[in-house]
Amino acid sequence: MSSAFAAVDVIRAKRDGRVLSDEQIDWVVDAYTRGIVADEQMAALAMAILLRGMTPAEISRWTAAMIASGERMDLGGVGRPTADKHSTGGVGDKITLPLTPLVAACGAAVPQLSGRGLGHTGGTLDKLESIPGWRASLTGAEFRAQLSEVGAVICAAGADLAPADRKLYALRDVTGTVESIPLIASSIMSKKIAEGTGALVLDVKVGSGAFMKDAATATELARTMVDLGKAAGVRTVALLTDMSTPLGLAVGNAVEVAESVEVLAGGGPADVVELTLALAREMLDAAGLTDADPAKVLASGAAMDSWRAMIRAQGGDPDATLPSARETEIVRAVADGVVRSVDAYGVGVAAWRLGAGRARKEDPVSFGAGVVLHVKPGATVRAGDPLCELRTDETDRFAGARDLVTEAVVVDDGEFVPAPLLLDRIV
Ligand code: URA
Repeated sequence: MSSAFAAVDVIRAKRDGRVLSDEQIDWVVDAYTRGIVADEQMAALAMAILLRGMTPAEISRWTAAMIASGERMDLGGVGRPTADKHSTGGVGDKITLPLTPLVAACGAAVPQLSGRGLGHTGGTLDKLESIPGWRASLTGAEFRAQLSEVGAVICAAGADLAPADRKLYALRDVTGTVESIPLIASSIMSKKIAEGTGALVLDVKVGSGAFMKDAATATELARTMVDLGKAAGVRTVALLTDMSTPLGLAVGNAVEVAESVEVLAGGGPADVVELTLALAREMLDAAGLTDADPAKVLASGAAMDSWRAMIRAQGGDPDATLPSARETEIVRAVADGVVRSVDAYGVGVAAWRLGAGRARKEDPVSFGAGVVLHVKPGATVRAGDPLCELRTDETDRFAGARDLVTEAVVVDDGEFVPAPLLLDRIV
């Protein structure tokens, strides 16, 4: 039987709601990575998986096949317990920036392989590239050396890490097949397991600015990923956290780096500090470093030292002035009242329209562009008070962003009930 027919058999089986065999999964993932299964066949299969779902055994085998498509790193030699964090993505989510050096300063090694932003959620590498000189690409040897010496690395994943996912994710992005729990869980976990971390904390976002808009789906995704991690021998825990409001006040690239540095200096917005410390505690716990107190380490300045060492090790100048946008515009309250909500999705898209994000993978980002909030939900404002600041290099981008933030920031005179940031913990 030719390969083309074998692919059609696998597509038909899933289309008709059947469970794929281990051999079918191993074959189709490997053949797709090698270019034997065509993009249109894999797109049809991804859509069948999205519509029909997969059993836990199928998800586990699919994840294993994606790991086997590339190199599996061994971080045994770095001399410290390893712990990593993965966020499913949100608006203003700069937590990796203060968290990585903080957890390293507490004694763990943090191998943080990160991505770039696409659409309304920002990318950690885009943010760090706003620091003059900083480079995202490291060789395997540089990665290991920095992990041993500094304990903290944030860099781009190499081409050998789960190449099946790299190809499949790009295909899903353009075929409406991203929003599938089996495909998201296997995509994220194949990369994290292949990276070789011993412990993993997942920050699964829920709300308008996240992939998962409701708690039930976010819980199912978290459960699926935690089970995959544990089955692969990675100590894995997930926190469900709110993403209906942007994290912190800054949304963009350089503005988020600046806010992260404020946190490392002992200040910064309360929600960013709360989530950084909660995730640090989970990572240290999962890594077996239960004596370390991340709040004390943050206050001591040791996390800032670790940040500076991490930035320098990748060619960056931690003292350099960050890029700023050429133009700014303030959006003001039109009436007195209380800020009821600041919609994460609206602010994320506004920052993207101002130039902080990209529409296509090859587009450049503007480092200085973004939105800086002046208020968070619960703040009392008077008519004329600033609600937020829009920053861009091109004034014609203001109009689209202004409309979005005007709708996103809701001011009224009703009672305000604060919403918790940490929603659930799944082990
Ligand atoms: N992030 C990933 O790496 N993969 C997905 O499928 C979704 C988010």
